Amino acid sequence: MKTKSLKGIMVLAAMLVSFFSLAQNRLIVNTDQGDIKINKHIYGHFAEHLGRSIYGGIWVGPDSDIPNEDGYRKDVMEALINLEIPNLRWPGGCFADEYHWTDGIGDPAERPKMVNTHWGGVTEDNSFGTHEFMNFAKKIGTEPYITGNVGSGSVEEMSKWIEYINFDGVSPMADLRKRNGQDEPWGIRYWGVGNESWGCGGNMTPEYYANEYRRYATYARNYGGNRLYKIAGGANNWDYNWTEVLMKNIPLNMMDGLSLHYYTIAGSWENKKSATDFDKETYLETLRKAAFIDELIKRHGTIMDKYDPEKRIGMIIDEWGTWFEVEPGTNPGFLYQQNTMRDAHVAAISLNIFNKNADRVHMANIAQTVNVLQAIILTNETDLILTPTYHVFDLYKPHKDATLLSHDLKSEEVSFGKEKMEALNVSTSRSEDGTVNISIANINPDKKIDLDVVLRGIDAKNITAEYITAPAINSHNTFENKEVVKKAAFKDFKLNKENLKVSVPANSIIMLRAK
Ligand code: AHR
Repeated sequence: MKTKSLKGIMVLAAMLVSFFSLAQNRLIVNTDQGDIKINKHIYGHFAEHLGRSIYGGIWVGPDSDIPNEDGYRKDVMEALINLEIPNLRWPGGCFADEYHWTDGIGDPAERPKMVNTHWGGVTEDNSFGTHEFMNFAKKIGTEPYITGNVGSGSVEEMSKWIEYINFDGVSPMADLRKRNGQDEPWGIRYWGVGNESWGCGGNMTPEYYANEYRRYATYARNYGGNRLYKIAGGANNWDYNWTEVLMKNIPLNMMDGLSLHYYTIAGSWENKKSATDFDKETYLETLRKAAFIDELIKRHGTIMDKYDPEKRIGMIIDEWGTWFEVEPGTNPGFLYQQNTMRDAHVAAISLNIFNKNADRVHMANIAQTVNVLQAIILTNETDLILTPTYHVFDLYKPHKDATLLSHDLKSEEVSFGKEKMEALNVSTSRSEDGTVNISIANINPDKKIDLDVVLRGIDAKNITAEYITAPAINSHNTFENKEVVKKAAFKDFKLNKENLKVSVPANSIIMLRAK
């Protein structure tokens, strides 16, 4: 009898093994393992004084006809509150290294104007300054991340900005803040020391920047029990030497984060392609380039590991996203581009990769929040569009602060022309209440994929799911039709004990939650 049942078990096991190895697409999730937390700050954002990002996008001023609360667009605020964005980086970007914060405080009518040389050469009237930014961050419930001016500023200027914002006693800067209507210090933690110092932030060598960083960081003081999280301006793309020199020359106790910037383009920098008009080969080229950030994280990470094996210093990917040709007829300096399902896949792939590397990647900021590059929100005078990228951030909410789970994915491929990639792209995590989160992107625009999922280690009773999909890879929302791409309930799955069968629609991104 015993031998019989043993035989039976072995036959069943063999059947299961052959079933799963035969399955062309299968995902095994180790639901009961994992000890790395996916930092919620990976889901961070970025708003620069660039084009219609701040002015018109976030800030319209209290006298505007556009519905606003104290000068902030109500519709944009509501969308950002819904998204629960963990942090917002400001004021740039390249703009940060020509911004003098003292120009943006006090009576708005008295504030000096300046030329925004990087972005369209327009006049910046400084009506959106430190207080306006801090109040906005408070209203939308996000943590501010400020980048100081190293390129054209001074150590004194940045040091005084920190004192103005964070000092809780009697001091020249704290007193000035109080005279400007803010009694309590804001206590900001995240400070960037310059931006792209290898380029628009001063064209420095890594050796020179490392020395400058040490000076700036020395005078970036902790006040009132608030310990600053200091972020050094890191490499562009695959400039591994920049990372090596900074890690070697900056004492580890002087920095908390090191940034990395990487933009996904189609074509070349000199000849960027359209955001909406592209063929399937270009689509796949774009997604392959987005996925390349995995290699960048690994290689920069290996250099960081050499100096910081404990992985205390965070890799801060504080600019990432797509960069296409601007929308026809718009100011080339404003970087206004549409946002399609292709952008949604770039976001899904990138966020899946950041999650996977959560031991080193402690923060990331998509560029940018409103009306610029891979925006999550596009606005006109009267209305707003939530882009496909917005919906990906919305779908991915459960991954924030969840425990990263390991998984094993077997996926079929999709190819167009000379481009080829795995069709499925996945990330898995476990929320504090034990719910297992599985985000799945099917980048094949033409084929539904049947995926066998094994939830190893959990006896799931209940699955809920939401997704976005669209008829075409360039489907996008417009002011005339705002819901071409939107989040909806997803039901095409079947649970049988540990095994879950999911029919992943062509051109879709799903978030499945198992409990
Ligand atoms: O996000 C737009 C620009 O891209 C930023 O200002 C700069 O840091 C980067 O080159």
